[in-house]
Amino acid sequence: MTNTRSAGASVTARRPQALIAASILDSDQARLADEVRRADAAGADRIHLDVMDGHFVPNLTFGWKTIEALRRVTSLPFDAHLMIAEPGRWTEQFLDAGCDSITFHVEVAAPQIAPALARIREAGRSAGLSVKPGTPLSALDGYRELLDIVLVMTVEPGFGGQSFMADVADAKLLAARGWLAPGGANEVQVDGGGRAATAEVIGRGGTDVIVAGSALYRADDMAAEVVRIRSIASAARAATLV
Ligand code: DX5
Ligand code: ZN
Repeated sequence: MTNTRSAGASVTARRPQALIAASILDSDQARLADEVRRADAAGADRIHLDVMDGHFVPNLTFGWKTIEALRRVTSLPFDAHLMIAEPGRWTEQFLDAGCDSITFHVEVAAPQIAPALARIREAGRSAGLSVKPGTPLSALDGYRELLDIVLVMTVEPGFGGQSFMADVADAKLLAARGWLAPGGANEVQVDGGGRAATAEVIGRGGTDVIVAGSALYRADDMAAEVVRIRSIASAARAATLV
């Protein structure tokens, strides 16, 4: 895995703290609206929405109609993470549902990638690409001018509650900044195994947004866990900023 494009990239901070995006994948699916409200009340900065089609990943979750319904529940930004084979086919539906950012995978069929990214940005939302653990950042070559977000997967996509892949974080997080469009939203996000125990490594990589699913929804005190992850990561991130 060679991810050297910007290993020494200087990390410019658009904001002093790392943000926490609550993934509802591990929440009580019979009470999704309440679970989104719970993350909002607990101080999460974003809601991370894992859409899976059972083809791109071996799991099936919810679609744009669910997102459209949840949109009425909170004013927090919605980060859609599309683990689907044909993101280009469904972009309009996720835009209409109220997603503030839409990130899909660079491993999908290439012809749909640039047009979908351009359409998301044309609609005034943030566009992102995600790389699986085994995909090098060089797969993002050619899309840099269109990327507001690079989402680094630190687990194999498809399920919550998996173990964090520290080697992937070390190799990719800081380097990923080299694939962000100048003047874009400028966000490296990490997704998979985000929790207090991994927050220092994640922060040291200069990460802007940390997705946390099971760490939050299995916590006794969600608000305390949000604060813990954010403070540990932000302290480590501050040491990386120049
Ligand atoms: C996995 C999803 C992640 C997952 C994170 O495919 O993309 O967002 O829900 O869950 P945790 O934080 O439990 O690893
Ligand atoms: Zn995700």
